[in-house]
Order: sequence, then structure tokens, then C-alpha cells
Amino acid sequence: MKDWIKAGEIAGEAREFGKKLIRIGASHKEVTEKIESKIGELGGKLAFPTQMSVNHIAAHYTALLDKDFNFEEGDVVKLDLGVSINGAIGDTAVTVDLGNNEKLVKASRNALNSALEIVKPGTTLGEIGRTIQEEITKLGFKPIRNLGGHGLDKYQIHTEPTIPNYDNGDETKLKKGQKIAIEPFASTGSGMISEGNPSEIYQLSHVKNIRLQSAREIMKYVGEEFKTLPFSKRYLIRKFNKLQIATGLLALKREGILHEYGVLPERDKTSLVSQAEHSLIVGEKVTTKI
Ligand code: CO
Repeated sequence: MKDWIKAGEIAGEAREFGKKLIRIGASHKEVTEKIESKIGELGGKLAFPTQMSVNHIAAHYTALLDKDFNFEEGDVVKLDLGVSINGAIGDTAVTVDLGNNEKLVKASRNALNSALEIVKPGTTLGEIGRTIQEEITKLGFKPIRNLGGHGLDKYQIHTEPTIPNYDNGDETKLKKGQKIAIEPFASTGSGMISEGNPSEIYQLSHVKNIRLQSAREIMKYVGEEFKTLPFSKRYLIRKFNKLQIATGLLALKREGILHEYGVLPERDKTSLVSQAEHSLIVGEKVTTKI
């Protein structure tokens, strides 16, 4: 329990620190690296690569190894970060509006707050979904239906249950002490995401023998460093050169040893998406609130 509370606290602090850095003209990668260093300074490890997904990109966009961009006026930036303390996780997100989209930001925030008000042992997943859906549609937006909150477990970022962002009629009840993250997304578009480009976010999914040396060394390194938590291609540059990274990752992906996540864009490419997220221990505490 202590580790879950500590992970949540650090995640909350890093979120508040990070959101102030998201400014017009700031480098996406520099802000990402500052937030990730901050998490280390606060005594946490990364539960997954810090993500800042912009405009119609709903999630899973982390800074790429070889590419960067600056935030622009009008951007809607979702900062989503995770902290691990011995595998216990705090997962939290906030949206920073660099334009005129206050109402969209409010929609996901209101949805999260209302969901947190009804969460207790016995609340059903469908009830949470309905509350989120009502708050978002009330302000004229759509909840993203094929993204949801999730259970958290040691070294597991996405476990059962799936917490819907709409009323799916699920009568599964929350239990006391369960660790979950609730994350409503509000969209000006279709309310559906698709799987987009490779994200450079990887996760070890199946350890087995592999002949290629670079692949073998990367597998060993990520197994020790991240276990079953997602990591970014960026982190490999601490240990490996670019050729080793390229050949190693290719082989590990082909063998099914590593899974690479896709970026998650709204199907409507002209849309804007906002997100808010907290982690909690049901019946005990919202761990990422500070
Ligand atoms: Co989450």
C-alpha cells in the first residue's frame, strides 16, 4: 500500500511540474526529458514513457529518438505519465490548452471529478461510464468509446477491469482496495480512435532465445531495467549505439519478444481531444491527487 501511495504522490507532483513547462515554442522532447528527470529526482522510476499527445492524437505519443517539434499556439496537449515504486504504479494525466479550448479541457476534467465522486466499493463499471458520458456530452463533446481506464497491478500498467468512458451496461462491481486508473477522453470528433503509426514505445512480452547479439543484449537490459513495463526507444541510447538499436529492435519485434505500441489518433483527423486521469485505491484514496 505504501508504495502505491508514494508512486501516486510522485506522479501527481511530476504532472504539476510538467504542465507548467508546456508552453508555445517549447520543445516537446526537452519538456519530456525534464519531466522524466524530475520523476527520478523525486525518487520514482518511470512506469511508462512520459507521453504528450497533441490535438487529434489521443494517446501513446512519446518523444521519438530522432525527431522533435515545438508546441504551437492552439495545441491541445495531453500530458500522461506514470511512476513506479517497486512496481506499484501511479498513472495520471492532464490536458494543457495552448489555444481557446477551455470547454473541451473542462469536459474531461468534469467527467473525471464526477466519476471519482461516485467511486466506492460496489459502484459498477457501467455507472462510472454513464457518469463520464453524461459530463462530456453535456458540454457538447463525445467521450472516446474505445479508450478507457484500467486496473493496475505490480509491474502491470493495464489489467482488468476496463473502465468504460460510456455506459456499456457492465454490472461488474468495484471492490475495496482495488487499484484502478480512470481516464476520460473528450473529443470534438467521432469519439473513436484507430491504431496509428509505431510509437517507439515497446514492452517485453515473451522472453526467449535469440541469436543476434544486439537483440540479446537489449532483451537482457530491458528485462532488468523495465521488467514488463513499457519503455521508449530513447532510453536505449544510454547503453547501445544506433545500429545496435535498429537491428536489435527489428529482430526482437519480428520474434515476438517485444511488442511495439501504436500511436492512437482520433479517426477524425481534424478533431481535438482532451484527457484527464487519476489513479486510486478503491475505498481508500485517490493516489495521484495533490
Ligand atoms: Co492510464
